[in-house]
Amino acid sequence: MSASVNPDSTDLDRLHAAVKREKEDLSPESKPAPLWAIFLLMLVAIVAGDQLGPMTGGWSFNVSNPFALAGGGDPRPGGAGAGGALDPFAVAMKKGAGGYAVCGGCHQGNGNGIPGQFPPLAGSEWVTGGTERLVRVVQHGLTGAITVKGQGFNMPGGMQPFGAAMSAQDLANVLTYIRNSWGNEGTMITQEMVKKVRDEEKRATQWTEADLKPFADKNCAGDIPAGPGAAPAAK
Ligand code: HEC
Repeated sequence: MSASVNPDSTDLDRLHAAVKREKEDLSPESKPAPLWAIFLLMLVAIVAGDQLGPMTGGWSFNVSNPFALAGGGDPRPGGAGAGGALDPFAVAMKKGAGGYAVCGGCHQGNGNGIPGQFPPLAGSEWVTGGTERLVRVVQHGLTGAITVKGQGFNMPGGMQPFGAAMSAQDLANVLTYIRNSWGNEGTMITQEMVKKVRDEEKRATQWTEADLKPFADKNCAGDIPAGPGAAPAAK
């Protein structure tokens, strides 16, 4: 076919002519690389890549995994990660500290309350005493005159119930937190304990100090000592 432009030629003819002019045919000697060579190079790359990790001090994709770097357990649900278990007490304390924001407005961040108005949680026998009583106080509320650390309190209206507003787990975390903060030391409170009290007490009114006398030193069944390694896991 001639590359000269014929007045009758179509656009397609002209295009083909241009392509023929500008692109030389491949010479018969220039063949694409043989497939076996390409596969060989891939194999070398894979083997070399595998060697790279050990040879560079254990470089691994895990460097981008913050849980692996932290050296602790994997905090994602269901993940135990390196070294085994998440400490359920530490988890409850962390979550409870967040949940305590609900209480801190009255009982204060330092747990000391406000004299004459809001009773202290720090050093309070209500907090470190019987867990059956403590769960009830926060679940259903408390009203009337009470004595805390030898001081009388009697806020009009008392304390509202928190049971309806908080999940059993959130409540358990906050109670574990107040039992183990500001020098307080107490057992962990689990959501099972809170649920059991909820099942037992279908109470619509706040407690009074007299109502709660029978529970003052009563602990929920299955009390768990607080501290690292305490079981079972907070969900
Ligand atoms: C709006 C203020 C207010 C908030 C918020 C509040 N409380 Fe109270 N709390 C009180 C008052 C007032 C009393 C005393 C009730 C009485 O006089 O009968 C009390 C009593 C208590 C007691 C028993 C007495 C003591 O000091 O140990 C505990 C335990 C307690 N609260 C825990 C909590 C927890 C836990 C929370 C958060 C979930 C909370 N409170 C939120 C006002 C509050």
